[in-house]
Amino acid sequence: MYIKQVTLKNFRNYTNQIVHFDKGLNVVVGKNASGKTNLIESIYCAALGKSPRSNKYKDLIKWNENNCYIKVEVAKKYRDYTVEFGIDIQDKKRIAIDGIPLTKLSQLIGGVNIVFFSPDEMKLIKESPVERRRFMDISLSQQSKQYFFALSKYNNILMQRNKLLKNNFSSTALKEQLYAWDIQLAKYGALIIKYRYEFVQKLQTYAEKVHNRLTADQEKLSIKYESCLEEESLENMEKTFLEKLQNDFEKDRNLAYTTFGAHRDDMQILSNDIDMRKFGSQGQQRTCALSLKFAEIELFKSELGESPILLLDDVLSELDEGRQTQLLEMSSGLQTIITCTEFQENIPHNRITISKGKMIE
Ligand SMILES: Nc1ncnc2c1ncn2[C@@H]1O[C@H](COP(=O)(O)OP(=O)(O)O)[C@@H](O)[C@H]1O
Ligand SMILES: [Mg+2]
Repeated sequence: MYIKQVTLKNFRNYTNQIVHFDKGLNVVVGKNASGKTNLIESIYCAALGKSPRSNKYKDLIKWNENNCYIKVEVAKKYRDYTVEFGIDIQDKKRIAIDGIPLTKLSQLIGGVNIVFFSPDEMKLIKESPVERRRFMDISLSQQSKQYFFALSKYNNILMQRNKLLKNNFSSTALKEQLYAWDIQLAKYGALIIKYRYEFVQKLQTYAEKVHNRLTADQEKLSIKYESCLEEESLENMEKTFLEKLQNDFEKDRNLAYTTFGAHRDDMQILSNDIDMRKFGSQGQQRTCALSLKFAEIELFKSELGESPILLLDDVLSELDEGRQTQLLEMSSGLQTIITCTEFQENIPHNRITISKGKMIE
């Protein structure tokens, strides 16, 4: 799949801008603070319904304006279509695919598939499990509507359950009150965990190969899903999940939150059997993050039969020359949108020059 055109209205520092993209490599160049990341962010928003760098939708609206609008025109294997995403100052969202308004944000996901990489993505390797769960969740949500649905349900139920634990601490009926939530939490939790086991297993196959390539066969990457539940039949996983919730009742009551579940899981990342999160050098961590992202691309291709769009924000400057060339080689064959302050590589590309929120012809 590839993006043909993006239209922005009052998005961040853009007033009114149309940007065309080529099927292959697109390089967005411009000085600092010109609007390069903003352009990438707009595509991210149209793909996932949220920004990678702000939780407040209002931040996306150009200062002193009341609303913003993004339109992304995409070409897929069998047809073209458009995704529209608008927000107003009251936080009201307007979403449409092919001009047909949609009521739920979830209906947007999967329309434009992206793999996003920025210097911030190093967090994926070195920071808390939250980051690795986010990685799995974003990838899986784009690949499976069922996963996205289960995850939304799970998060919602978890919130309700935690609220009950907090507010009804002393209620003698608390255990019974929780039971209805527990059944639901176990149902969706087991499903999420099952999906994640399969995801990481498939990802491992691809990641190992990419990592070999990036490290000239010097390092062997191994990733594993670390879960509160063992992988077995969905039915058994659901049963164990429910039992654990029941057994942990006193603990949960005392701590006033749900201690067991998919929201505590993690992904282990080993290179030559060394835990990269704790002991990886910066260079190793960066390479691992790249390997995971490129493995994600391969997984998208095999799961959906279609290439995702690769968004690379400011990552070239972080890599040595050899890695830069490898990165660009590996991204050939799929639409890549890259931002940088300078681009001197001698390879064909569509250059998009940005200055102060405007594209310069
Ligand atoms: N809501 C907004 N309205 C207007 N300008 C904004 C808004 N949000 C960010 N900006 C401005 O956008 C500019 C460019 O940001 P960015 O795309 O991150 O630059 P870069 O080209 O370095 O990636 C910054 O100067 C920032 O102040
Ligand atoms: Mg930037």
